[in-house]
Amino acid sequence: MSALFLQAGNPENASQFAALYAQCFDDAWSTDAFAGFFASPGVVAWLAGLGAQAESFLVLRIAADECEILTIGTLPAARRHGLAQFLLRHGAFEAQAMGAVSMFLEVAETNAAARALYSALGFRANGRRVGYYRSQDGQSVDALAWRAALPLTSPISGAA
Ligand SMILES: CC(C)(COP(=O)(O)OP(=O)(O)OC[C@H]1O[C@@H](n2cnc3c(N)ncnc32)[C@H](O)[C@@H]1OP(=O)(O)O)[C@@H](O)C(=O)NCCC(=O)NCCS
Repeated sequence: MSALFLQAGNPENASQFAALYAQCFDDAWSTDAFAGFFASPGVVAWLAGLGAQAESFLVLRIAADECEILTIGTLPAARRHGLAQFLLRHGAFEAQAMGAVSMFLEVAETNAAARALYSALGFRANGRRVGYYRSQDGQSVDALAWRAALPLTSPISGAA
């Protein structure tokens, strides 16, 4: 799948990231927060969409030979069309070009969609932080650490 809309994150479109984030997560990251990320060394980000509008976003931080996924989301109405997978593959390619040899992230154990996404791309869980998150109903939720070597598995080898 190829996104028809792809734009790198910059101070001018930071508000689009904040607007998309607000529709994907229970908490909020402000426009200033995204603009601050974009001004930080090693941070790269993209917006993507199937039409002319941004429907999905990804923010990465590359430090030394590692790439951290800071945040990723797709608007609810645009999910399961491959946008997050497209952005992660695009981001992994760019991160590798910047010297990264692996990608990592933390995700709530209860986030089945994200776990399925990372698993499909060849990430494997390699750690746990007990009670790291708090759900809306006040329950504590473990964070799972996931990591993948770069390049990510291809769709064909990943499906084997
Ligand atoms: C997780 C999230 C980013 C996935 O975005 P998306 O654009 O819908 O993902 P894709 O369409 O690229 O999915 C790629 C693959 O991931 C897996 N996947 C994604 N969402 C899934 C779901 N809800 N259930 C099962 N598998 C899922 C599937 O293998 C899917 O391939 P398929 O559709 O061919 O079966 C999206 O659900 C989201 O924004 N959630 C809220 C924010 C969030 O949790 N971010 C991640 C925090 S770590």
